[in-house]
Amino acid sequence: MVPDMENIPYFVIQIVVSNLFLTAVAVAAAVWYMRDCLKVPGIGQRWVLVTGCDSGFGHTLAQQLDRRGFHVIATCLTEEGSSELKDVTSSRLKTVLLNVTDGDSMNNAVAFVRKEVGEQGLWGLVNNAGRSTPIGPSDWMQLEDFKKVLDVNLIGVIDVTLRLLPLVKKAQGRVVNVASIMGRVALTGGGYCPSKSGVEAFSDSLRRNMKPFGVKVSIIEPGFFKTEVTSLDLIESDLQRLWNRLPAEAKDSYGEGYLEKYLEAQRFFMKILCSADISKVTGCMEHALTARHPRTRYSPGWDAKLLWIPLSYLPSFLADYAISALLPVAEAPERHASSP
Ligand SMILES: *[C@@H]1O[C@H](CO)[C@@H](O)[C@H](O)[C@H]1NC(C)=O
Repeated sequence: MVPDMENIPYFVIQIVVSNLFLTAVAVAAAVWYMRDCLKVPGIGQRWVLVTGCDSGFGHTLAQQLDRRGFHVIATCLTEEGSSELKDVTSSRLKTVLLNVTDGDSMNNAVAFVRKEVGEQGLWGLVNNAGRSTPIGPSDWMQLEDFKKVLDVNLIGVIDVTLRLLPLVKKAQGRVVNVASIMGRVALTGGGYCPSKSGVEAFSDSLRRNMKPFGVKVSIIEPGFFKTEVTSLDLIESDLQRLWNRLPAEAKDSYGEGYLEKYLEAQRFFMKILCSADISKVTGCMEHALTARHPRTRYSPGWDAKLLWIPLSYLPSFLADYAISALLPVAEAPERHASSP
């Protein structure tokens, strides 16, 4: 079809406008990228505290920040974790034992931090310590099982933050909270997903409350990475404990062999999803601590970006359908017969 003469100017306008639009998008992206790359000066004069440095993200991040020149205070749960970290870091890095669910341990660590940072205040607080087990079907749990995880992952984060916030305000610093993609998509039962969802909400309020004081709050939402949190040894032996403890009636409701099917499905998708490259996560944490303009949310991992975040925006019935394909549903022979 030949466009008639009347329409040609219109075509031209369309081309010009769409080119202008693409140019504007390209310029905006370039400006955003350059802004994102700006760094804060004087890292050698800044103190950063990272919780949960025995292993995983915390262990790697502490070393990484130490190499960059930060004064790092790394909290560890165990003596072994602490001495392993000291073996691979400079003498500038200090460790202190901290169990975030223990009041005395918390008092001790906070006093230590206050003394170390002095008038400088604390530039960075990275709430990284966390645990995943017990994790599995909700009705295999008792209240204590939920509490074990919530106490560390949510109450512990709030407690550490409240105690150290005056020091962070003094430095007009940063709080970096490690949530999880499971704080957005609750894949399974137990305290883990509610705790991480709680960390998201706590961090959102904190960010809004702290804005006038120049304190910035970032949330890290990692996908699946190989750490203690995704350790199948820990998760499977704990699931076995929960299953063994179930009353016969509850076991029957799931059917013989359900645990084995569940474990197999879990092994299968963890093998596909879990990435060993945890520097993707610590890179985001470092950006949150060193960028002039830290981002509000970071979602490291291809599974987070391509699978879980899109899934979190789907209507619930579609999300339910997708998630039910991951873990086997209970096969209860009497379920339908006994329904009214
Ligand atoms: C942490 O502290 C709590 C409360 O005192 C205690 O029950 C728990 O065993 C401690 N955990 C470790 C690993 O020491």
